[in-house]
Amino acid sequence: MKIGVVGKGGVGKTTVSALLARTLIARGRRVLAVDTDSNPNLGLSLGLDAQQTEAVPTVPRSIVVGTRGDLTVDELMVDYAVPTPAGVVLMSALRVTEAGAGCTCGGHATVRSLLGQALDTEVDDTIIDMEAGIEHLSRSGGTLANADVLVLVVEPSRKAIITAQRTIGLAAELGIGAWIGVANKVDGDQLGLLAELCAQHQVPLDVVLPASTEVVAADRIGVPLQPAAAAELWQRMDELADRVLAVGRPVSR
Ligand SMILES: Nc1ncnc2c1ncn2[C@@H]1O[C@H](COP(=O)(O)OP(=O)(O)O)[C@@H](O)[C@H]1O
Ligand SMILES: [Mg+2]
Repeated sequence: MKIGVVGKGGVGKTTVSALLARTLIARGRRVLAVDTDSNPNLGLSLGLDAQQTEAVPTVPRSIVVGTRGDLTVDELMVDYAVPTPAGVVLMSALRVTEAGAGCTCGGHATVRSLLGQALDTEVDDTIIDMEAGIEHLSRSGGTLANADVLVLVVEPSRKAIITAQRTIGLAAELGIGAWIGVANKVDGDQLGLLAELCAQHQVPLDVVLPASTEVVAADRIGVPLQPAAAAELWQRMDELADRVLAVGRPVSR
């Protein structure tokens, strides 16, 4: 599956990307995670230390993958994909390494071309931890146009849910056929408001992830969430993985 994880800044895209990647690994799948944040830190959530995260090479902006490009997918993986302690292979696509270096359009084209390829010989699932906002869906061609499914991460706030609503509109225009609504950082007493806001803005509420002090504590020191911590959160991630893997499968009767 080719999975784009999208949403407003700070809602938990990187957290959800890392947990979903680890959940799929636990199921024996081969997972590539692509950090497209210009300030990448997905590596920390996958068990790399700060120095190793800094050392993940950035795919050059000019590279286009595939038959009409400079590199094949396996060449790209050899040169730029880094194994992590979580078992996930990590790539960094849009890091800003120089102040004033200009826009990241080329990097977006790289990611689009990567997603456009048949990656099946290398990995089972590719997870794109997308930079905040919706620009990646509106760029000409759409960075995520070749995704099978979007994971729309929201938190219980109207602004986050409006961002998801706009994203759905753009995804439909790009021809992305499926999206899953994931509400993150939810306290029990916010469930009513959350359901109301999602209904008002036509955002599906498919999976609810609890607010977790363990996630905050792990993030504070920059380490992955322990498998034994936050049992409910891991259970919900299993639900999300089921939903992701069910996309595109024929519905059984
Ligand atoms: N389920 C959760 N419970 C509590 N805090 C969370 C949860 N998910 C994410 N956070 C916190 O929210 C902040 C933003 O998360 P992050 O994954 O970096 O968001 P994004 O990638 O969307 O900017 C981090 O400090 C993280 O620890
Ligand atoms: Mg992030």
